[in-house]
Amino acid sequence: MQEAFILEMHLKLANLLMKKVAYINQKIDSFNSKIYVPGDKSLSIRWILMASQAVGTSIAYNLLRSEDVFSTLKTIKKLGINFKINKKNCKIYGKGLNGFKFKNNTIINAGNSGTLARLIFGLLINSKNQIILKGDKSLSKRDFSRVISPMQMFGQNIKSNNQKLPIRIKGTNYPRPISYNETKGSAQIKSCILLAAMKTPGKTKIKSVPSRDHTEKLFKYLKLPIKTYKKKKLDLISYNGVKNYKGFNYVIPGDISSSSFFIVLTLLSKNSKIIIRNVNVNKSRTGIIDILKIMKAKITLKNKKNYNGEYVADIFVKSSNKLKSINCPVDMNSRSIDEFLLIFLVCASAKGISKFNKIGELRNKETDRLKFANKFLNKIGIKTEVNRDSFKIYGNPNLKLNKTYKIKNFDKDHRACMLSFIAALTFGGKWIINDIDSINTSFPNFISLLKNLGAKIH
Ligand code: S3P
Repeated sequence: MQEAFILEMHLKLANLLMKKVAYINQKIDSFNSKIYVPGDKSLSIRWILMASQAVGTSIAYNLLRSEDVFSTLKTIKKLGINFKINKKNCKIYGKGLNGFKFKNNTIINAGNSGTLARLIFGLLINSKNQIILKGDKSLSKRDFSRVISPMQMFGQNIKSNNQKLPIRIKGTNYPRPISYNETKGSAQIKSCILLAAMKTPGKTKIKSVPSRDHTEKLFKYLKLPIKTYKKKKLDLISYNGVKNYKGFNYVIPGDISSSSFFIVLTLLSKNSKIIIRNVNVNKSRTGIIDILKIMKAKITLKNKKNYNGEYVADIFVKSSNKLKSINCPVDMNSRSIDEFLLIFLVCASAKGISKFNKIGELRNKETDRLKFANKFLNKIGIKTEVNRDSFKIYGNPNLKLNKTYKIKNFDKDHRACMLSFIAALTFGGKWIINDIDSINTSFPNFISLLKNLGAKIH
């Protein structure tokens, strides 16, 4: 606990010392570099939650050290599970599927993490005492009906503030297996149900629009009784609970979502090249690569390997000055859900009109990302058409900026913030970017990696 405390204090101190505003007045010069990005956020959170349910010690290497991950560690600690973290690894001392121990009305603060806040419902399906789940300002604006309704079908007792946080959660002694139709393509909903199914006797079934399948892959790695099939375009998943499992070791590959900022930076910079090593290239996450390739980007995956059931590769990217617009196939939507802001930025400088349909889920993220993208692109002189569920971008391959751009009021959305850095470093102009501490949610060394490539950020 000592090390964890020290690490967290470091992050807090870094936060305090970190300036809240960044100034960028010039584009990045050409670069030719190899980088590593930190461990995947979805996998880091899932490993912590699954290790907290294992019998005995689990060890993870390359766990992401960011605020969302610290919120997850603090959560399991409040629920009675110990851990140790140091520079080399993180150890969690699980006590099995019924190992949580906490007092009635224990408060859990999920901070900014939607994934933690949604998945934890599943692990509390049979809790004897009540939890009060809270979050930061942005998370408190988000809707939880998507997990409340399947959890109530299992028998969980939930009292919410109009489907929003704070939410009181108390388990049931007799969880019932459910059959659920997941229509949003949300991995958070699917995973929350699977975590509840682990503690529920009988067969839980999910029919789901495809979404990231890390939970399913982790269950298979642990040899848990999960079955998955494809039927037409849907995923059929079943889980036959209840089975304990032993503590396990896990190596967390680099995060494709964090890599994407550097993929796009390279594509939109002149005469540049980058290799991003050891990135998770799970098919359900690589929509951005397929979309950018359709747009004629030069991206190659090499040295493919398998880490604990997840594919990992090195991503090679070269600058591209002949990017074309896209009519984005809707089956790419959930495969690139966290990368749309970056994809829109590429469309802004691609030749032709790009079209996106059925992307209303972007309105339910850390901020309304469709609204943010529309305002952002208009601010830099790009014509757009936006509807509830669709977006059109009129690209300008000669886009050059020379005004002053102030970025603020984005609900401290880490991805909106990092997007602004990439726009500033590739299109020019004078930029003032506020609330840059939000980056610590997912990618604390983002600015230092940019500076290592030669970016001038003050
Ligand atoms: C996540 C799923 C996605 C994604 C989020 C992480 C996960 O959310 O946007 O950043 O780790 O399961 P939805 O499941 O709501 O699409």
